Amino acid sequence: MNDWQRELDQLEQRGMLRSLRTVEGGQGPKVHVNGREVLLLCSNNYLGIADHPALIEKMVAATRELGTGSGASRLVSGTMPTHAALEERIAAFKGTPAALLFNSGYAANTGIMQGLLGPDDVIFSDELNHASIIDGCRLAQARTIVYPHCDTVALAELMEQEKPNRKGRWLIVTDGVFSMDGDMAPLAELCELKEAYDALLMVDDAHGTGVLGEKGRGTGEHLNCLERIDLHMGTLGKALGCSGAYLAAERVVIDTLINRSRSFIFSTSLPPGVPAAAMAAFDLVDSVEGRKLREKLERNRVQLSESLIAGGMDLLGSRTQIIPVLTKDPEPTMQMTGRLLEEGIFLQGIRPPTVASGRCRLRATVMASHDALDLEHASAKILAVYREFAG
Ligand SMILES: Cc1ncc(COP(=O)(O)O)c(C=O)c1O
Repeated sequence: MNDWQRELDQLEQRGMLRSLRTVEGGQGPKVHVNGREVLLLCSNNYLGIADHPALIEKMVAATRELGTGSGASRLVSGTMPTHAALEERIAAFKGTPAALLFNSGYAANTGIMQGLLGPDDVIFSDELNHASIIDGCRLAQARTIVYPHCDTVALAELMEQEKPNRKGRWLIVTDGVFSMDGDMAPLAELCELKEAYDALLMVDDAHGTGVLGEKGRGTGEHLNCLERIDLHMGTLGKALGCSGAYLAAERVVIDTLINRSRSFIFSTSLPPGVPAAAMAAFDLVDSVEGRKLREKLERNRVQLSESLIAGGMDLLGSRTQIIPVLTKDPEPTMQMTGRLLEEGIFLQGIRPPTVASGRCRLRATVMASHDALDLEHASAKILAVYREFAG
């Protein structure tokens, strides 16, 4: 026990200790933290629909009818009508023959790569992929080759070098929108490569689904290559306002995962109310209201990023609602986060190991539910606090 305490003390001294903060209220633009009202700038509830009446009604109705828990894993007795219906809906949404639900994005990424790949296979993974993809690579028996961030020239060279040794399947895996930088993967170029080298492309579109593209289909739609992607992973807990995740793909891929993916097989399925609410979220994404929410989110993104850039901030090339402000070192980053909270702005300071050393940042996320005045106020506070601690 003392060893652990010593490690925690050391983390604290280096400004690296993590602790939990309770947020009171839903995931609306204003919440209460430590008894004070603050502007929420770190929720992934991008469309602002986590408290939408349509989702709540569906969740309550399904819960009344089917209960609060699913009682078992999917292969035992935990496949309920809401799970099956949502899988069909997701497949239609992404334009694939089939889809499979997972309990979270973390469970999906670890379970997909472990379930699909074997010792003869090779994974090509972007160096800034989400931790759940990194862990998925570790759990898969395949060899992993990490390529420099979004660098398709370097990836092509690595693939070329690897060609003479090829024995099995090749999988290129990437975030669609990178969770800490807010930039997008060059999906059209990755499609060219995967087609040239007879590989598969898996896109984790946790932050693009519901948000990007005319119809909210995600980064693939935005970059005009949705139908060329082989494995569409996405989450239900961010723009869709619910919880859980999915893979949409060919039927044989889904059947393989049902038979081999450990995070799918050995875990109690989502409570039936969750897929029922997610179904309503997909309906909303497809509606005129959904399109208007995407447009509002885009206006909010442009407003906050442009005002921060005008104030001299380095936003690391973000082109989405994830807006990082580079602050470099952990200590000032956490001091800025604390000061901003005192000033009524709640955003996250991001430190290693989530990002590389020297690449700490304030990570702000905008939602469709923010209004222009909120964002103007947030931008002024961020710039003032940045100058106070980094200037
Ligand atoms: C890119 C990406 N993939 C996967 C996940 C994990 O999803 P979940 O929170 O549903 O476990 C996240 C979560 O932050 C993410 O950003």
